[in-house]
Amino acid sequence: MEAKSFWVLLTTLLFIIRGWRQIEGCLEQERIALFQLKSFFNDPIELKEWVDVKGSNCCQWERVKCNITSERVISLNLNYARRSTSNGYLNVSLFLPFEELKSLDLSNNKIEGFVDNKVSLLSAFDNLEFLGLYRNYFNDSILSKLKSLTNLKTLDLRFNRIRNLRYLQGEKMQPIMNLEVLDLYGNFLNNNDLTYLKGLSSLKSLSIGGNQLEGSIDIRGM
Ligand SMILES: *[C@@H]1O[C@H](CO)[C@@H](O)[C@H](O)[C@H]1NC(C)=O
Ligand SMILES: *[C@@H]1O[C@H](CO)[C@@H](O)[C@H](O)[C@H]1NC(C)=O
Ligand SMILES: *[C@@H]1O[C@H](CO)[C@@H](O)[C@H](O)[C@H]1NC(C)=O
Repeated sequence: MEAKSFWVLLTTLLFIIRGWRQIEGCLEQERIALFQLKSFFNDPIELKEWVDVKGSNCCQWERVKCNITSERVISLNLNYARRSTSNGYLNVSLFLPFEELKSLDLSNNKIEGFVDNKVSLLSAFDNLEFLGLYRNYFNDSILSKLKSLTNLKTLDLRFNRIRNLRYLQGEKMQPIMNLEVLDLYGNFLNNNDLTYLKGLSSLKSLSIGGNQLEGSIDIRGM
């Protein structure tokens, strides 16, 4: 081999190795997607490690967890990461790149609803097993959307504005969702809402204190 082609080969190899090492540990499209989340989760102090620098390993950023085998983001903790005096609507399209996302904590962010007119909530949150919505402003209608998330096992809806559980009812009394843990503490539910929980046939743990339930409650057959 000529010396010249040897050097060309060597530099090419070095480039390949460098490029490979840069993406190691974090997918570039997920890093970009994380950075884009900062337009909504805008706290200047939180998420400061989330930078728009090509090759930065987002799996090592605070509040992000990756699967070390697939190197995909599996958990995002966005608890109290938004600073705003007004309520907001979160665009679920922003979560589409996280194809293996299993756990998402959106608590304490003054979120009133999801914007999902272009993509369905299901396509963005398909793999979610845990969804934390503690202390936001979601109302009853959120339940009709979450109903399609069949992988969801734990749903934390403490301190929201849920007044009615009728959206948990499947058509013709079919069981819906495979929820195992449901926390509805601190909403505005009353005794009538308990009948709608029949649709949750996998439920193992329910918290419904701090609502407007009265008297003694018979939960046999539920
Ligand atoms: C991590 O990814 C591998 C390969 O895709 C998969 O087999 C495994 O179940 C994943 N583990 C978790 C905890 O998601
Ligand atoms: C939601 O995000 C998508 C992708 O970034 C964008 O195309 C769409 O216009 C956004 N929707 C709203 C209502 O902001
Ligand atoms: C419930 O929330 C949805 C989405 O934010 C909104 O469109 C609807 O008007 C709200 N309904 C009530 C009764 O507040």
